[in-house]
Amino acid sequence: MNLAPITVAIHTLGRDARQDFIDGLRDGLTRTPKVLSPRWFYDERGCELFEEITQLPEYYQTRTEMSILERHALGIMLTARPASIVELGAGSCTKSRVLIRAAKGMGTLWTFVPFDISETTLRNSASELVDEFDDLTIYCVTGEFDHHLSQIPRFGRQLIVFLGSTIGNLDLEQARMFLSEVRRLMHPGDHFLLGVDFVKDERELLAAYDDAQGITAEFNLNLLHRINRELDGDIDVSAFEHVALWNPADHRIEMHVRSTSDQTVTIGAAELSVQFDTGELTRTEICAKYTRAGVEALLAEAEMRPIEWYADPAGRFGLLLAGHALQS
Ligand code: AVJ
Repeated sequence: MNLAPITVAIHTLGRDARQDFIDGLRDGLTRTPKVLSPRWFYDERGCELFEEITQLPEYYQTRTEMSILERHALGIMLTARPASIVELGAGSCTKSRVLIRAAKGMGTLWTFVPFDISETTLRNSASELVDEFDDLTIYCVTGEFDHHLSQIPRFGRQLIVFLGSTIGNLDLEQARMFLSEVRRLMHPGDHFLLGVDFVKDERELLAAYDDAQGITAEFNLNLLHRINRELDGDIDVSAFEHVALWNPADHRIEMHVRSTSDQTVTIGAAELSVQFDTGELTRTEICAKYTRAGVEALLAEAEMRPIEWYADPAGRFGLLLAGHALQS
């Protein structure tokens, strides 16, 4: 039995997720071209499917990043020496576990602050983490990247991590805003660790977003099922198909759903009726790919100072450790 003091606090930042979903659909589905936000992929089924994606042979990102972390966690911690690790978009916390283990070994770490949109996910991750780290204070914060970063509590010298190339979901303008918000959270001596997927051969990228087993297709189309389940939609999901394409101008993969017929869809809870033409694309996600120089330029704009790149031998994926620009 575990008698050590365990602290798991949940700090929920206020917004009505259902109302946001409704407002977002009303906005995105009345635009030309139509667009949906990837944040809505992650209901329970969506989280399950994403976990399956991370195991796919074509989806190299998760396992590559994990191998980089396992190899370099200690080196990262020797530089960062955090009293607190803040993970943005923490999800299952599988990766932070490697970082926490390394920092715990050095004796500096007291607090872990996972931030995620899903409270259920955070509760589950936190209860698994306390099994391994029984003297770590875990302070879960649920919120959204574009509204709540500034409200994340600070527990001393911190390492803020944003892994998995989740920054790829943001367009350039959103990425700039996001990084400047992260920078506001940083005091001199704090660090930021960013995981990015590098620009590479188009076929390899496309395969990662259009796998042979069709799991990514199911993940993408689950968004439509979710609208039916939660918002009283009448979408015939079989009349849409998964599309992944490479946008060379913006160096990003885009996921879309393509309507295979002329059809009208109604979404009861949003009091919305939407017409789709045959072949029409609705964008559901962008997954921007970066070069080292591109990331360094973005961080410099946000007044952060690149310290060290960590990458796999094949150069598919990279982690950049950065500091507050005003420290030596
Ligand atoms: C979680 C945003 C990093 O862009 O690779 C995986 C999501 N979408 N397959 C990614 C995703 C389709 C993933 N991120």
